[in-house]
Amino acid sequence: MIEKIDINSYSKEINGLLEKEINLFFSTIPYAKHLAASDEPLNEAYYIRHRIETIKRIRLTAKTDALALSKMIDENYELARRWGKYTIQELNHDKMFLADLKAHHIAEAQVFTTPLFFATQNLITYLEESIHQYGSLPAVYYSLFVEWNADRYSKNVVEKAKIQYSSDHVKGAEAHVNFDDVHDHYQIILEIAHKLSHGDKTTFFILCDISKLFRDYFNELYCQTVLPSLPIQEAI
Ligand SMILES: [Fe+2]
Repeated sequence: MIEKIDINSYSKEINGLLEKEINLFFSTIPYAKHLAASDEPLNEAYYIRHRIETIKRIRLTAKTDALALSKMIDENYELARRWGKYTIQELNHDKMFLADLKAHHIAEAQVFTTPLFFATQNLITYLEESIHQYGSLPAVYYSLFVEWNADRYSKNVVEKAKIQYSSDHVKGAEAHVNFDDVHDHYQIILEIAHKLSHGDKTTFFILCDISKLFRDYFNELYCQTVLPSLPIQEAI
């Protein structure tokens, strides 16, 4: 018998789980606090490569979001309406980050000729396979994970980059933070996830899988952009 919890308990359980996951991230992944921490300058190679991968991930998850929409139409048509609206908004967010990269003299062509990280490919493969297996929920949990983290950390990342570069360099990222706020993205996704999962906590393993794939991503980002330039004694 599945235990169904109401949205308030569901929300609390998710907060508790994602707090533990973020602590795991901070304690196990090198450089994990770098993007948002105000006590050290931003590593440009790390920051720019992260922005490039963010754009690539937005375009790739636009596809898994669409795959999830086709499943959700059968699962719950009313939720599919809300999900469809949300995913169309997300579909355009690549433009915001592309505009910021332009201020760093990085053209769109360079973004799309940069090879994808293995971790990002693994994330997309995981989403595709799990959507086929479980239905639309993994795509919704992916969005829940990124919106939860964006709510807590994106503002600090934008502030840090604005201080180091200029407000012109973060116009897109700033617009993105405001967009999520104004459109209440986290709350929308929380409600969709609660209804779709029937308030069943046993589905949270998908959130843990996604969190692990993001830890892999940040580890790869560190290995590609920071580690090679460190003297041996600092590379711990
Ligand atoms: Fe969003």
